[in-house]
Amino acid sequence: MNDASSSNPAVTANEAAGSDPLAVALAEEVGASHVLSDVDLRAPFETDWTRRFSGTARLVVRPADTIEVAGVLRRCSEAGVPVVPQGGNTGLVGGGVPRHGEVVLSLSRLDGLGEVDRQAGQVTAGAGVTLAALRAHAADAGLSYPVDFAARDSATVGGMVATNAGGIRVIRYGPTRRQVVGIEAVTADGRVVSRMAGLVKDNAGYDLAGLLAGSEGTLAVITRVRLQLVPSLGARVVALVAVEDIRAAQRLLTRVRAVAPSLEAAEVFFAAGLRLVQCHAGGGAPFGVEHPVYLLLECAAHSDPTEELAGALGEATEVVDVAVATDGPSRARLWALREAHTEAINAEGVPVKLDISLPSHAMGTFVDRVHGVVADVSPEALTIMFGHLGDGNLHVNVLGVEPGSQAVDDAVLRLTVELGGSISAEHGIGQAKLEWLPLHRDPTDLAMTAGIKHALDPAGLLNPGVLVPIDPQPDRGRP
Ligand code: MLT
Ligand code: ZN
Repeated sequence: MNDASSSNPAVTANEAAGSDPLAVALAEEVGASHVLSDVDLRAPFETDWTRRFSGTARLVVRPADTIEVAGVLRRCSEAGVPVVPQGGNTGLVGGGVPRHGEVVLSLSRLDGLGEVDRQAGQVTAGAGVTLAALRAHAADAGLSYPVDFAARDSATVGGMVATNAGGIRVIRYGPTRRQVVGIEAVTADGRVVSRMAGLVKDNAGYDLAGLLAGSEGTLAVITRVRLQLVPSLGARVVALVAVEDIRAAQRLLTRVRAVAPSLEAAEVFFAAGLRLVQCHAGGGAPFGVEHPVYLLLECAAHSDPTEELAGALGEATEVVDVAVATDGPSRARLWALREAHTEAINAEGVPVKLDISLPSHAMGTFVDRVHGVVADVSPEALTIMFGHLGDGNLHVNVLGVEPGSQAVDDAVLRLTVELGGSISAEHGIGQAKLEWLPLHRDPTDLAMTAGIKHALDPAGLLNPGVLVPIDPQPDRGRP
């Protein structure tokens, strides 16, 4: 995470104090060296990881704890200045970067991790703790935090909860919301709400933690969470299976799911994506020849699940070829072929990234048709797909699209909705998909969402332009 402020605090402090009264007020809350106004210091907080979304921040402010977050939000609320909360800046829908001169509130310094409560199997984590640090901390206590994904070294707990992050183990453990058993957050006007007892059963009113999970920083700023951990399963096996097409991958997965309760991940990628990965990240060819579709399966248990997986794959006619890995380094090599997709695509250009989910009966039709609908509006574009087949979640990445054009977004999201899917599976709506939300949610649904937003953030200062429209949206019409 950027720590440029500490390299030259005097310059920043002088600039902060000098020109902007809000900077002076915020410096009183967090210290002048944590209010960044200098163009170069702000820059890493102003562009998202994909390079598709960027804007200018009035200031970047880096509080150290919940009290300082509350002070920052109170000052911004008094000044009527909007705030964009930001975690590890790994979001993919432009939900954590400024748009129109907001204050960026970086939570990265809230990186405290409590001692693991072994009896409850829970831990308290600050919003700025990285996923990798959280997982390592849980592992040190002989437990596991089950949500995991490739951006683990940068993505932080606050952002993960705010976006209800999914990842590679959702089929077994569910997304982030399911792990949250307590939450502490700060309201738009600087009040602290706290439910951190970690009670698994607590039906006293609305589920605020569940509501804030997935709210994308639009309702309150999450500062700490209490997370449920799971047993650590030390015996693992990974199989990369080559199949003929997506329908064969689905049939095979259905069979594996039915007989292998140890199944923990079921990921898919295609020949075009693997080619890009090999070009940009290397890793060697998994098989002697290229295959159209690859299904990556991982099983985990207390005792070796290899027999269970082998039994499931056994006589399956869908299996064209298979590579199996049991030791850590070999498993990591197979996983790298899947996890390197994001970076390989980014190395090729700035992609349009569309994270969608589909009912299983529509997956084959979607894969058949998506290349065509993209080619119709952007003939030169290259469509690369990969994702979490077990959750019906595909990441549609399109390279070579005219910068600023939304024709591909429109075509792919319309196809998704036509087939009964969701325009966001796990990345959120952000600013990227706001225009298409009325395609997927009916007017009553949208009105309830707007009502919740208004009740919790009446002045509309938290992450404006993300998830909930600032102004009424153009009616794109339901399919
Ligand atoms: C993944 O599954 O690797 C992530 O969601 C990132 C991405 O979609 O690029
Ligand atoms: Zn994903």
